[in-house]
Amino acid sequence: MTEQTQAVVSIELEGAIGLVRIDNPPVNALGAAVRQGLAQALETLERDPQVQVVALYGTGRAFSAGADIREFGKPPVDPKLPDVCNRIEACAKPVVAVVHGPTFGGGLEVALAAHARVGLAGARVGLPEVTLGLLPGAGGTQRLPRLIPLEAAIEIISSGRQVPAEEAQSLGILDRLSQAEPRQAALDAARAVLDGSLPTRRTGDIAVAIDPATIASAAARLQKKRPALAAPIKAVEAISYAGHPIGEGLKAERALFLELMDGPDRQGLIHAFNAERAVKRIPEAGAAPRPVASAGVIGGGTMGVGIATALLQAGIKTTLVETSAEGAERARAKVIGNLDGAVKRGKLAAEQRDRLVAAFDTTTELEKLAAVDLVVEAVFEDMAVKTGLFGQLDRICKAGAILATNTSYLDVNQIAAATSRQQNVIGLHFFSPAHVMRLLEVVVAEKTAPEIVATAFELAARMKKVAVRSGVCDGFIGNRILAHYRKAADYMLLDGASYEEIDRALEDFGFAMGPFAVADLAGLDIGWATRKRKAPTRPAEERYVAIADRICEAGWFGRKSGRGYYLYDDAGGRVPNPDVLAIVEAERAANGIQARTFTPEEIVARYMTAMISESARVVEDGIALHPIDVDAVFLFGYGFPRHLGGPLNHADRIGARQLVERIEAYAREDSHYWQTPGLLRQLAESGGSFNDLNTANSDGR
Ligand code: 3HC
Repeated sequence: MTEQTQAVVSIELEGAIGLVRIDNPPVNALGAAVRQGLAQALETLERDPQVQVVALYGTGRAFSAGADIREFGKPPVDPKLPDVCNRIEACAKPVVAVVHGPTFGGGLEVALAAHARVGLAGARVGLPEVTLGLLPGAGGTQRLPRLIPLEAAIEIISSGRQVPAEEAQSLGILDRLSQAEPRQAALDAARAVLDGSLPTRRTGDIAVAIDPATIASAAARLQKKRPALAAPIKAVEAISYAGHPIGEGLKAERALFLELMDGPDRQGLIHAFNAERAVKRIPEAGAAPRPVASAGVIGGGTMGVGIATALLQAGIKTTLVETSAEGAERARAKVIGNLDGAVKRGKLAAEQRDRLVAAFDTTTELEKLAAVDLVVEAVFEDMAVKTGLFGQLDRICKAGAILATNTSYLDVNQIAAATSRQQNVIGLHFFSPAHVMRLLEVVVAEKTAPEIVATAFELAARMKKVAVRSGVCDGFIGNRILAHYRKAADYMLLDGASYEEIDRALEDFGFAMGPFAVADLAGLDIGWATRKRKAPTRPAEERYVAIADRICEAGWFGRKSGRGYYLYDDAGGRVPNPDVLAIVEAERAANGIQARTFTPEEIVARYMTAMISESARVVEDGIALHPIDVDAVFLFGYGFPRHLGGPLNHADRIGARQLVERIEAYAREDSHYWQTPGLLRQLAESGGSFNDLNTANSDGR
């Protein structure tokens, strides 16, 4: 046994009880040392004649978060987790597992292999492997259906959902609940086994009948989902073996698990898991955040209402400022409507909703914000309006208050300069609807103080959002990249692809909606306003596609005006708008363009290459700290297909060299738009990858 092994798993004898403690911070992941420690502990205790019962428990915030995902993709180290679980199940002495906090994946599989299970208050159990592109590979698909009804096992495994302790007990995953601390609960459970009040049995010995019709209908349901991810479907296939003797079922499960481990989704999904955590690596992480107990939101439009809702849900007393009493009343009704919606969806308890409503106020007087800790401005996107407002806030707000703007593209340095306290000014770019979308771009201006950045990140965590640090530029990380690749779609449209073909190709690739359907949803007037704003600075060499302008000139702004690129029926179905098809034809004719065909592969290749190019520039310019930050922006704010891990993760799969070749080929048609970013060229020449630039959190490629 190595020293490390002794440290992460330890044994303690208490009379006839052998306690086995897992202590591998931060989340007791079951890395090689823990697996070796567990196997060794069982050997030792099984041999010890004094020991009559073994109780497993963990220290820290989780019994175990499961297999150590940093080991995936690397050469396996014995003993493998399924062998450790089998060793536990085969133990000649009864083994009881006491679980607390998150007990996920391999962590739950260890517990399922024990002969009885006790859950502590607040424990959550689950098999989230499918969310990482895998299936439970240490017996979960064989043992869970032996303990609980088949439908419930399928639902839990194929969704990866977290099951609270009480529900886990009523389903039969846990045998009993306890309020004690883990070590005490382990002693209590072991004593209960000894006195016979906690019965034990080997899960693998339980015989169950697996109904093929239930399996078939679950598989069909999952297949229908788009994009049809392999993992949940394979997991159901693995469950179908649970009626066989456990040894056979485990073999089938292992084969399917290894297939997924080598499949295309696992790496992207684990990269997405890591991205959510990697974005916290900011230079300001060591600064002490300021307390935020109260906030003001200026503006009662869609953004302001969403932001106020998000702040309230994070437990922050919030005052919303509108220009008129009617506007304030409308905003109030909408915020309360959002909270009621959360109650209806089971996301918020009714009493909690009443407390949040009581913590919410609206006003028409900016002076009411004199004492708040944070102000988020969400008014019209106009520099003069914003600088005027920040000048007023500078006079009104208390010293130390954080002054944030929700601008989506304006220069935050210029807004800050309207105050005498630039160190307290920051951009908080929420995405609509702000109480739902997880992304928050934290825009750090030249003079923003580190503790203000740290406060923004802490605030984001309280709002359960993914904060990504961005520098100042037009559009910050996300909208800057979007503005670039969106043009690629318009160029393909003008050159001959139909917008329906483009949307379909990208939806088949994995986006929930293609760019033209998104434009209809967002409102075509939004892009129109941006194009008008940028017109004076548009380089003469830039190709300009006026199709969207023509549609707007006709008064069609997408879904909100009933028609845009598509006509929509009440059921959400869409058909191309014939009037827009005529506009497209006319624009092609006006530009002397002979329409050519584009295959779905070419559509995806051009669109993704454009997205990757601007993403590379955003990293090169230092607007994003790391490539993985760009990935996080697209995963959590732009509906990027999670299994692909983000644009720069996808870029690594294509390879920098291939991307440079593509850009050079496209540049023969349009050398202004298609330019090779310096960073991409550098990676192509060195054979490096974007992931090399993500200094930590290797995702096991
Ligand atoms: N392996 C390795 N590292 C892990 C890990 C795991 N399974 N789970 C979490 N970590 C790391 C995180 O990356 C993070 O690292 P960082 O500090 O360097 O950023 C650190 O532990 C703390 O994690 P969180 O920031 O997520 O802490 P929280 O307290 O917010 O959440 C948690 C804890 C709910 C356990 C969450 O981390 C989680 O959901 N983990 C993943 C659970 C999972 O998917 N398990 C299945 C693994 S696959 C498996 O078991 C296969 C088996 O069937 C064979």
